[in-house]
Amino acid sequence: MANRQFDVVVIGAGPAGYVAAIRAAQLGFATACIESESYADPKGEVRLGGTCLNVGCIPSKALLKSSELYDEAKHAFAMHGIKVDGLSIDVAAMMRRKDNIVTQLTQGIRGLFRKNKVTLLAGRGSFVGREGEYWQVAIDAKDGSREIVDARHVIVATGSIPRRLAGVEVDNVTICDNVGALSMGTAPKRLGVIGAGVIGLELGSVWKRLGAEVTLLEAMPDFLAAADPAIAKEAWKVFTGKQGLDIRLGVRLGAVVRKNDAVIVEYETNEGAFTLECDKLIVSVGRIPNTAGLGAENVGLSLEESGRIRVDEHCQTNLERVWAIGDVVRGPMLAHKGMEEGVMVAERIAGQAGHVNYEAIPWVIYTHPEIAWVGKTETQLKNEGIAYRAGQIPFLANGRALGQGETVGFVKILAHANTDRILGVHIIGTNASELISEAVVAMEFGASAEDIARICHAHPTLSEVMHEAALAVDKRPLHF
Ligand code: FAD
Ligand code: NAI
Repeated sequence: MANRQFDVVVIGAGPAGYVAAIRAAQLGFATACIESESYADPKGEVRLGGTCLNVGCIPSKALLKSSELYDEAKHAFAMHGIKVDGLSIDVAAMMRRKDNIVTQLTQGIRGLFRKNKVTLLAGRGSFVGREGEYWQVAIDAKDGSREIVDARHVIVATGSIPRRLAGVEVDNVTICDNVGALSMGTAPKRLGVIGAGVIGLELGSVWKRLGAEVTLLEAMPDFLAAADPAIAKEAWKVFTGKQGLDIRLGVRLGAVVRKNDAVIVEYETNEGAFTLECDKLIVSVGRIPNTAGLGAENVGLSLEESGRIRVDEHCQTNLERVWAIGDVVRGPMLAHKGMEEGVMVAERIAGQAGHVNYEAIPWVIYTHPEIAWVGKTETQLKNEGIAYRAGQIPFLANGRALGQGETVGFVKILAHANTDRILGVHIIGTNASELISEAVVAMEFGASAEDIARICHAHPTLSEVMHEAALAVDKRPLHF
């Protein structure tokens, strides 16, 4: 029997892959998407949505919200005159809520595939060869069966997996990566976290609010080195101060050993040698591209030394009509970056001019307060010798922030000293994840700080802090 033929075959149904598949189908291509993972689906069915929906963005944000509400009820309700007696947390119920949200969204993608006529192929996808115009892609199903399909275009979107540390065995019960960290049955008494990056801070915060003593061990001497230094300094003050996260910097990790039910972590800093004993350990030391079993060698698909698939600025690989997007290629490992690449590639296959502006990809860390930024940090501008002016306004000066009891943090805008063009916007504060959108739009449109200063912002809103920061670039804030 002849192989089934598709115009576009996407390997991987994470945010990069499923969006690419939907957009390709919208553009009229016969499209299939291959996905292998069942992410512990109770019926063993393949789960769409990748890391993001199943064991990443979505479940983590669900748990963050639950833990924030608990923390608010404990610490913030009183200032509003709300009295709570007998407050407690039912972790199992919190996990059920999270699981239901995940199921709803992953099923939603199945619905979107049906609506857009994307063919779902369940199994592990790999390149087997090429005949004329078509790439042959095998789909190895769980039951051992194999189908080979012909694809004019292949989009690889196989994502990333957690980086492992030598000698540290992750069982996702006692020593966890993101999967175990998102599904603990109760809050551990003592939680250790290796890596004070995005996952460490977000999930460390969740379990801290639910009662764990949390110690984070970070290799870098600087905290949140990728963030603007003023943001990192404020975050350090808040997280290690009132929130009580114990963060050790400049850590050189030694042995990690299991002892009875506990984990013992030996480490050194410039102050000496230490031992951390904890009941659970999260290892969150970054993620690596996932190309295992893809059959890259069967077709000569070129990889970088880092293991990422080598692509140009339009996500074209070294092979004709083979593209790669999302975490498996260069750039930040962020869901929205992968989705934009998915749209770009589908549109370029259709001969359109799809593109991604890598200069305007927002970053968000969903701690409390949230941290969000887009564009360059002050450190980058200094290193690049770019002359700039800065405007910084605290939330404390904003009526809405006061009304909400959320006065921590600030908005900082960096604009070119001569042209006033916005070069970077950095926020630490409540709702920073939503507020950053205005800055992304501004940067996409090449706006100046003056442009934001002249836009009418609703009153009273947190967005007025952005307005004031823009005015502050020109040293003329009205309310500070
Ligand atoms: P993935 O989501 O990893 O999807 C790849 C898919 O391909 C998987 O489903 C995998 O099973 C499948 N696959 C792999 N190989 C094959 C194969 N050979 N055949 C068939 N299928 C295959 N990003 C944000 O932007 N915001 C956040 O708030 C955020 N929070 C996060 C929280 C955590 C705890 C983690 C771990 C990550 C978070 N991320 C967040 C990062 C985000 O999850 C990733 O950037 C995003 O999922 C990458 O999308 P992707 O489609 O490239 O890859
Ligand atoms: P990360 O890169 O954010 O942080 C890893 C941290 O571990 C770094 O600070 C690094 O210096 C440290 N580290 C590395 N090796 C170490 C060692 N041996 N000992 C101690 N510290 C060590 O990676 P993380 O937190 O694992 O997250 C992976 C990726 O997932 C992120 O880079 C991000 O792309 C994505 N993500 C995004 C989120 C968001 O957008 N809000 C949330 C969570 C994850």
